[in-house]
Amino acid sequence: MSGLGAVRVVLCARESAAQQWLAGFERAFTSSGIAVELLFRDASDQDARPDAPQANVAIVWKPPAALFDEQRQLKLIFNLGAGVDALTALPNLPRDATLVRLEDAGMAPALGEYVLTAVLRVYRGFDRYAQQQRDARWAPLPLADKRDVTVGVLGLGVIGGAIALRLRDQGFAVRGFARTPKTLPGIDCRHGMLQSLDGAFGAFLDGLQVLVSVLPLTDETVGVLNAGSLARLAPGAHLINVGRGGHLVDADVLHLLDRGQLGAATLDVFGMEPLPADHRYWRHPRVLVTPHVSAVTELEPAVAQIADKLAAWQRGAPLGGVVDFARGY
Ligand code: GLV
Repeated sequence: MSGLGAVRVVLCARESAAQQWLAGFERAFTSSGIAVELLFRDASDQDARPDAPQANVAIVWKPPAALFDEQRQLKLIFNLGAGVDALTALPNLPRDATLVRLEDAGMAPALGEYVLTAVLRVYRGFDRYAQQQRDARWAPLPLADKRDVTVGVLGLGVIGGAIALRLRDQGFAVRGFARTPKTLPGIDCRHGMLQSLDGAFGAFLDGLQVLVSVLPLTDETVGVLNAGSLARLAPGAHLINVGRGGHLVDADVLHLLDRGQLGAATLDVFGMEPLPADHRYWRHPRVLVTPHVSAVTELEPAVAQIADKLAAWQRGAPLGGVVDFARGY
């Protein structure tokens, strides 16, 4: 709780984006009736300023570690995105502060659209027809009934759930996997741990024609898509990754693509971004690379969500999207 008077909030983002975000937050705080003194700190500045005015609340996107050296009174930290892996990787992130990630905020429909586009592109053979056109080859490909195409969605939070429902609505057979039990109409929801392929996770992967990963990156999920797990998919399966690059063992993915065990990969996120120019993904004939664009944080829903949560925090009401540090998301 912030006490009486204006709460001091520091926004740490890229300088180029500062004006629009500051204006958006000013509007949102005013319309939520909260008194806020808003400060800006450039995220590209790596040096801590010991004399920085102290704030109780930070709103951040990929801040430098220096922010947490200079801000020593933070009680509440809002991440301007869904994934908090860049933040939890910082050793000096104050673990006694409440860390809140964005929930949906326009990202779920955007990700649903991206994934559906990727699934349909390969399902309708556009990737193979593009190749055939380069060779002036007229060769209709067989088209499976969508009900016989099983798509697995790995991660069933707000975003994964929306993706699963969108694919179901298109007529695909959809399986989902989460850490804890979930119920989604028309989705075959499974749950369990990711470490063992002997149990529910292996059974979830078995025979999937398409696997969509939308997991958060945590100690438990890093490298989870590797030779062993991906070998459980149907031969020629299509892998779509919109979670984080760290979920994939890239050498294994490339090996399986070369052998045809994976038929296609649509990759939006990478262990290193921008993806280095000499990376094999760029030139692999069965890989589509997009530059982390499946969903971007949208200003209006994001500022409105954060203003609502700040008002709730001031009232002492519970907040959604609070990160459990032990779980990692
Ligand atoms: C984007 O990748 C996000 O985590 O919001």
